[in-house]
Amino acid sequence: MALSALVLFVCFGVVYSQILCEDGYCRTYSFEVGCTAAAQHCSINNATHSGMWLMSPTTCNCCDYCLPFIPEGEHCSLGGPGTGTTVGRCGDGLTCVAEQDGNFCRRMKSDCHAAQDEYDARHESGQIGALEQRPACDGKGRYRHFYCVPTQTCFCQSDEGERLFGEVLHQGAATERNMHCGCSRLHHKIQKSISPGLKIPVVGLRCTSDGNFNPVQCLNNECYCVDKITGVIKGDEKIDLEVESISELSCYDETLDLFPSNTGSPPYNYTSPCLEDMKEMVDYLEESERDGYNVDYSSSVPECMPDATYGRVVKTFTGSKICVDEHGKPIEGYEAMPGTKEYEEMNCNCALTTLLMVNLPEKPVCCSNGNFRRVQCRRGACRCVDDAGRQVGAESGNVADLPCYVGEEWKIC
Ligand SMILES: *[C@@H]1O[C@H](CO)[C@@H](O)[C@H](O)[C@H]1NC(C)=O
Ligand SMILES: *[C@@H]1O[C@H](CO)[C@@H](O)[C@H](O)[C@H]1NC(C)=O
Repeated sequence: MALSALVLFVCFGVVYSQILCEDGYCRTYSFEVGCTAAAQHCSINNATHSGMWLMSPTTCNCCDYCLPFIPEGEHCSLGGPGTGTTVGRCGDGLTCVAEQDGNFCRRMKSDCHAAQDEYDARHESGQIGALEQRPACDGKGRYRHFYCVPTQTCFCQSDEGERLFGEVLHQGAATERNMHCGCSRLHHKIQKSISPGLKIPVVGLRCTSDGNFNPVQCLNNECYCVDKITGVIKGDEKIDLEVESISELSCYDETLDLFPSNTGSPPYNYTSPCLEDMKEMVDYLEESERDGYNVDYSSSVPECMPDATYGRVVKTFTGSKICVDEHGKPIEGYEAMPGTKEYEEMNCNCALTTLLMVNLPEKPVCCSNGNFRRVQCRRGACRCVDDAGRQVGAESGNVADLPCYVGEEWKIC
C-alpha cells in the first residue's frame, strides 16, 4: 500500500506526502488519532458471525477493517440517499430483498439453490443416493466449479452446472482441494460469450486435461510461462517461435505436450492438427467470401478442445465415430455407426472416466458408444446416473424400481 500511495501523490505533485505512508506512520497514527475497533465477525468466523477483511477507509489504511456478513433473515440496507451508512452486507448466497416491513437478507434464487432445496427435500424423506452429492453453490448462487462422483472422478463444471472439459481421478479431499478448472471455465466463458457473433473460433488458451492452464501459452509468435492455476504470466521469460522452440522455456513440460512435433526445426510452431485444420478452413472460407460466395461459418469450422485436440469423439474414415484419448489414440471397444441414436448421442464420457480408473476394480459400465449406461449397479444396489455419470435419486435393490429402468434390455445399450 505504501508504494501505491507514494505513486499517487507524486502524480499529483504533492511533494511533502512522499514520506506520508512510510514505515512507522501507522504506529504514530494509531497513537495520535486512534483506530476504532474492527467488527468482531472476521475474527470469530463461525456459522452466525463472519465477515471479510477489507482495507480501512483511513489514511494509509492504518486500521483493521472488517465488513460483517449479515445472516439470513436479518435486516440489511439497499443503500441510496437517506439510508445511513452500511455496516455489512448479506452473507454468501444471500441477497438484500425489500419487503413490506423493511429489507432482509434472503437466500438468492438460482438454479443451484433450487437444486440444493430439491436435494434437501429428498434428504428429509430419505431419498438420497449413496453416491449422490448435495450440489455445491458459490457465494453468488452459481454452481461450484467442479463436481465429484465419489469413488469415480471429479470434473469441471460451468456456472450452470454442465459438465466441462477437465477431469481427474477422485482420490478424496485432496483432489477436491486441487480442482481449479480455471482454464477450462475461461475457455467455456469465451466460447459462450463471443462465439455466437464471431465468424472465427477463438484460439489462444491452452488447457491441460485437468482443466488447469498449460504452463506454456503463446500469443502469435511469442510464448511465455503462466501459473497453471491462475493463468497469470510468470516471470519475464519469453521466446520467439521464429528462432526458438517452446522447449526452451523453463516451464515447458514434455509430458504435457500433446503435439511434440512442435519442437522440430525453425520456424517453430505451437499448434496442433485441429488448430491447423481450423486455420485452413477459416482461410478458405474467408477467400470464398472475398470471391462473393455466401459462407456459413458456423457449420464448417472444426471446433477444437481447450487442449487443442479434435476432441474425444472423432470420426473415422469409414464414417463411424470412436472414442479417443488426449493423444488421439482410440479407446478400445467404443464405436457408433452413422444414422443411429448411439451415433447422435455419443459423448464418450464413460469411456474417458473408465480410462482414468483403469487401475481401479469398480468401474462404471459404459454403453457401446462410450456413454454412461443409465443404470449402474454396485454392491447389490442399482442407481440411475445422468450423462455425466452423476447419480440421480436413490439406489434400489430391485433394478425394475428405478425411474431409468427401460425394461428387460436395461443391460444393453
Ligand atoms: C459464534 O460466536 C458468537 C460470539 O462468540 C456466539 O455468540 C455465537 O453463539 C456463535 N455461533 C455459533 C453458531 O457457534
Ligand atoms: C511451422 O509452421 C510452418 C508454416 O506452417 C512450417 O513451414 C514449419 O515447417 C513448421 N515447423 C515445425 C517445426 O513444424
